[in-house]
Amino acid sequence: MHKKTRVIVLTGAGISAESGLKTFRDADGLWNDHSIYEVATPEAWITNKQLVLDFYNHRRSELEKVAPNPAHIALVQLESMYAVQIITQNVDNLHERAGSTHVLHLHGQLTQVRGEHSLEPIIDVGYQPLKIGDTNDLGEQLRPNIVWFGEDVPEIERAVELCLEAEILLIIGTSLNVYPASGLMSVVSNNCQIILIDPNANEIDVLEQVKIIKEKAGTAVPALVEKLCGDKS
Ligand code: OAD
Repeated sequence: MHKKTRVIVLTGAGISAESGLKTFRDADGLWNDHSIYEVATPEAWITNKQLVLDFYNHRRSELEKVAPNPAHIALVQLESMYAVQIITQNVDNLHERAGSTHVLHLHGQLTQVRGEHSLEPIIDVGYQPLKIGDTNDLGEQLRPNIVWFGEDVPEIERAVELCLEAEILLIIGTSLNVYPASGLMSVVSNNCQIILIDPNANEIDVLEQVKIIKEKAGTAVPALVEKLCGDKS
């Protein structure tokens, strides 16, 4: 059988916006109501664990109420014709709930927790709130399994390896503000086709060869997937 073309999809908060989850840096984004330094850094955890837990408990409960949108679902359909690997900066589980089979989370996952001093074991808590006093078997306080600002991104090496193999790189709904995820675009080979879907994309932020589609993911991703699958049939 013919080898499937390898598509890497790099997603950010914008792909989940039409499901009802807030992005970070848009006008109504999470970082307008919350200080990164108070809720998303190791220092925040040392200073005020309750505030950090409240922030992520709230987001976990919001996640339970929403569902994948047509953009997440279209990426599942893309798997019928292409070898699709999603690399997401999102901590939601909407790609998995839509049915995507290869999803790498760069910034951790809302439904997972771990000991405050240990990367493993990772414990699945679903949508349950996490409290001060909840501990793992070692007696360590549990914390969200989220990569905070100033922390290492353990999955970045795997993401780079995957991008080196990309024949098409599809970037959806990210401001490309956060390193190292934003650098992945520069890792792909010269003959990799790069497409960016974001209603507020800025030509200045991206390499010249990037094709920009300035539309919302919920309409642009299904249309692009239909076109890509049409090209293969
Ligand atoms: P941002 O909030 O920085 O960017 C969201 C992007 O989505 C913006 O460029 C919007 O224009 C775009 N957008 C909004 N609505 C959209 C829609 N309907 N369809 C398509 N695009 C839309 O979010 P990220 O780039 O994902 O990290 O942020 C990266 C990281 O910064 C996050 O993973 C998070 C944050 O701090 C951590 O918390 C560790």
